Amino acid sequence: MKYKKLLTPLVTEVISLRNRVAMAPMNRRRATNGIPSISMVTYYKQRIGAGLIITDNTAISSNGGAYLNTPGIYTEEQKQAWKKIVDAVHAEGGKIFVQLVHSGRVGHSAIQKNEPLIAPSAIKVNEKIRTPDNSYQMMTEPIAITTDDIPLWIDAFKQATENAMELGFDGVEIHAAHGFLIDQFINPHSNARSDKYGGSIENRSRFLIEVMQAVVSVSGKNKTGIRLSPFREIYGLKPYPEELATHRYIMDELQKMDILYVHFSNDSTGGKQSIPINYLRDARKRFNNLIIVGGGFTVETAEEVLQSALADVVAFGKLYISNPDLVNRIKYNAPLAKWNEETFYHGGDEGYIDYPKLF
Ligand SMILES: Cc1cc2nc3c(=O)[nH]c(=O)nc-3n(C[C@H](O)[C@H](O)[C@H](O)COP(=O)(O)O)c2cc1C
Repeated sequence: MKYKKLLTPLVTEVISLRNRVAMAPMNRRRATNGIPSISMVTYYKQRIGAGLIITDNTAISSNGGAYLNTPGIYTEEQKQAWKKIVDAVHAEGGKIFVQLVHSGRVGHSAIQKNEPLIAPSAIKVNEKIRTPDNSYQMMTEPIAITTDDIPLWIDAFKQATENAMELGFDGVEIHAAHGFLIDQFINPHSNARSDKYGGSIENRSRFLIEVMQAVVSVSGKNKTGIRLSPFREIYGLKPYPEELATHRYIMDELQKMDILYVHFSNDSTGGKQSIPINYLRDARKRFNNLIIVGGGFTVETAEEVLQSALADVVAFGKLYISNPDLVNRIKYNAPLAKWNEETFYHGGDEGYIDYPKLF
């Protein structure tokens, strides 16, 4: 077999995956009122070959989904629809983690029934987003979460985790990447707070740590992962002087919690990865459990990163959109199909569940 590591099972004391290929979290925006569509059951079932499936980012509350048609996990109807997906994946021996998100200042109040956007500070993102009338509008200015209200949002993550556990998800991945709420606390360009959640490295990391502690208290450390995108410029987040020190501190704190995995999301636009290799080496030393990397990997570079022992699992995004049987294609050296960006979002079944399998 050409790809020795990628297709080898990963077996630890706390989890076993049938290979080291993960399906990256991708919000394909096929939910209505946050309720996953029935096609989502088929979509995930088709991708069952992955060692680990990580779901669409899934809102923990009605104002936390950023985009139109994002799934949620905060109502009974949403939960029942997710249950069908979890059961379908389990029926075929797959493993599925739900990615939990609060999008904070990314979004528009018209998308979330005119509720305000919330954020560490009232600093808006100067970008447009598609609204229910199908126009593109500037994102709404968020209101700053008061210190007293912070526990409410931590509780929302906790409640969503409770829901996920009740549904039988194998675990949760907390979305602390891509400029969403948790990332907004980490980065001083979006966090101008003067309370204990802003300013110093410890303060800017506090929301993340408290969310993770609350989540772990429900799911347990062995069923908890986190996605981070250090050094990534996205939704108004920019580099800052203490960025490296901040991310080192966060890794040390995650190690103390002993959670199952850290999942790094690389921005690979333009061919250059946003996370420096030295940072990955450093993270590997600080964090002893599993490391997943994703973003711009080919089958070859995925095998290389596993061989280099910098990561344990590689997440594939766009390749999983167009190759539902990606693992078999890797196994049999079959050609990989190209994805169609036009049907990533906003669509029905076209470009969603109609990519053919070869095997
Ligand atoms: C359609 C689409 C939706 C995405 N949605 C999410 C998401 O919900 N959560 C997330 O962490 N990343 C999301 N991403 C980023 C992917 O997880 C992945 O990091 C990115 O596609 C780069 O990996 P790739 O080069 O293998 O596609 C999305 C990417 C795409 C293409």
